[in-house]
Amino acid sequence: MKKEITKAVFPAAGLGTRFLPATKASPKEMLPLVDKPLIQYVVEEAVSSGIGEVVLVTGRGKRAIEDHFDVAFELEEELKAKGKHKMLSEVQRIADMVTFCYIRQKKALGLGHAVLTTKRVVGNDPFAVLLGDDIIDGKVPALRQMMDVYKRYPATILAIQKVPRSQTQHYGIIDGKKIEKGVYLVKDMVEKPAPDEAPSNLAIIGRYILTPEIFDALERTRPGKGGEIQLTDGLRILMEDQPIYAYEFQGTRYDAGDKLGFLKATVEFGLKNPEFGGEFREYLRKLKV
Ligand code: UTP
Repeated sequence: MKKEITKAVFPAAGLGTRFLPATKASPKEMLPLVDKPLIQYVVEEAVSSGIGEVVLVTGRGKRAIEDHFDVAFELEEELKAKGKHKMLSEVQRIADMVTFCYIRQKKALGLGHAVLTTKRVVGNDPFAVLLGDDIIDGKVPALRQMMDVYKRYPATILAIQKVPRSQTQHYGIIDGKKIEKGVYLVKDMVEKPAPDEAPSNLAIIGRYILTPEIFDALERTRPGKGGEIQLTDGLRILMEDQPIYAYEFQGTRYDAGDKLGFLKATVEFGLKNPEFGGEFREYLRKLKV
């Protein structure tokens, strides 16, 4: 029987080493892209895709994420008193968007381990996983596109994107058989292969639809690269019993957990900003550095 996907897991307990020193005491998920923290863009993608419950995996130093999605009593009173109603409703909207549940991952033992900590909360339903540093800008939210594919293929679905061959060592890469436009049946997956060893240039991006059997698979997964429990290794175990599909989503993806990727996203989102995008474009055009 097909089940609707209503829960989404947000693993946000990583150390963010690529963005040090900014991430020494602040979560990378809270880095602002123009005027919103990264994580808010991804939560908004989940909500507009139809998600009703967000399970956030946090760790030490991540309290700001919880505060961001909570009511901010003093701030709201202050905005009310000053008559700043537009800002007030924006601040309140953030806390009302969706139901949140928080789980602490006590040690950063890997993405697979972070997903495994949500087993009791997620239960026996298929669910989505969204990584907060992959920002996807598309006409239809990327997760919604995947949910539509899930209606036809009710199984695990990985978001993928073509990357230059020279970049394969930064991603999980699939070996797949194309079964329709944009949809592949996954035959194998390799974590961060060198370009000449990669089975394709189809890279796994931070959006997943997972069946609940992934939890058993993750329990059987031994620590892999870097001593961490890798989600890719869990998926390879799952693949022994169930089909896994990959879907090439429509949209532009930014790796905002990387300094250069973050700068590119900042410039492009700045240019699209209705309030000052035009002025920003002019500024960039005249820049002589
Ligand atoms: P990354 O591989 O991007 O690691 O994790 P990271 O620590 O966040 O960042 P870098 O690479 O050191 O700069 C992928 C996702 O998995 C989460 C991260 O928060 C990120 O969303 N994660 C990773 C956890 O929740 N727990 C972990 O133990 C590891």
